[in-house]
Amino acid sequence: MRGYEIIGKGLGLREVRPTDVDALLAIYGDPAATQHLPFAPRTREEVEQIVAEAIEAASQRPRRLYVFAVVEADTDEVIGVARIRIEADHPHSAEMGIGLRPDHWGRGMGSDLVRLVLRYGFTRLGLHRIWGARAPANTAAQLAMLVAGMVEEGRIRHHVWTSDGWRDSIVHSALSDEWESHRSG
Ligand SMILES: CC(C)(COP(=O)(O)OP(=O)(O)OC[C@H]1O[C@@H](n2cnc3c(N)ncnc32)[C@H](O)[C@@H]1OP(=O)(O)O)[C@@H](O)C(=O)NCCC(=O)NCCS
Repeated sequence: MRGYEIIGKGLGLREVRPTDVDALLAIYGDPAATQHLPFAPRTREEVEQIVAEAIEAASQRPRRLYVFAVVEADTDEVIGVARIRIEADHPHSAEMGIGLRPDHWGRGMGSDLVRLVLRYGFTRLGLHRIWGARAPANTAAQLAMLVAGMVEEGRIRHHVWTSDGWRDSIVHSALSDEWESHRSG
């Protein structure tokens, strides 16, 4: 458990490391995991680049980008990735992103991971607003964010360009004060 930034229900977040490339490739390089994401499955070289940029970003001040390996606490295995990107012009607000390896889907881990990321953002980073954008067809992400208490805010039309053409995004958000009452309620 040592080295975790934060630990939740069976899942921990820790800073991503160079040795996490293969574990992250199992998500970013997987066609099912990237089906609703605005990019094609990544190559190993691209994932190496993502990890290198994440490590570089960790040393910047002010720090804007947090990339975490999602670790299964029982086994210490990396089974997912989570990101928090603080907006440069609105540093009270950050965008979050999550991904789990497909063999761990559908067991409630997605909603637990969203809760963990929100807890980190609100309690450790002092954020006021955390939002996530998903593809309209991404039902698993929709439910994971709703179950974790993130409100559906609206639709950004033609937000991303994909190989199938323009795609809308649906935005969800959580606010620190609402989250506090959600937790105690
Ligand atoms: C998004 C993601 C993390 C969700 O993880 P998960 O472990 O499947 O989610 P959960 O098991 O917590 O599911 C959340 C809810 O959605 C339901 N659900 C999961 N997959 C579903 C599906 N395909 N269709 C309908 N409901 C689904 C679950 O039953 C659960 O509801 P419940 O808590 O009321 O039972 C996972 O699907 C993933 O990594 N996807 C690829 C990357 C991605 O799309 N990231 C999000 C970008 S916005």
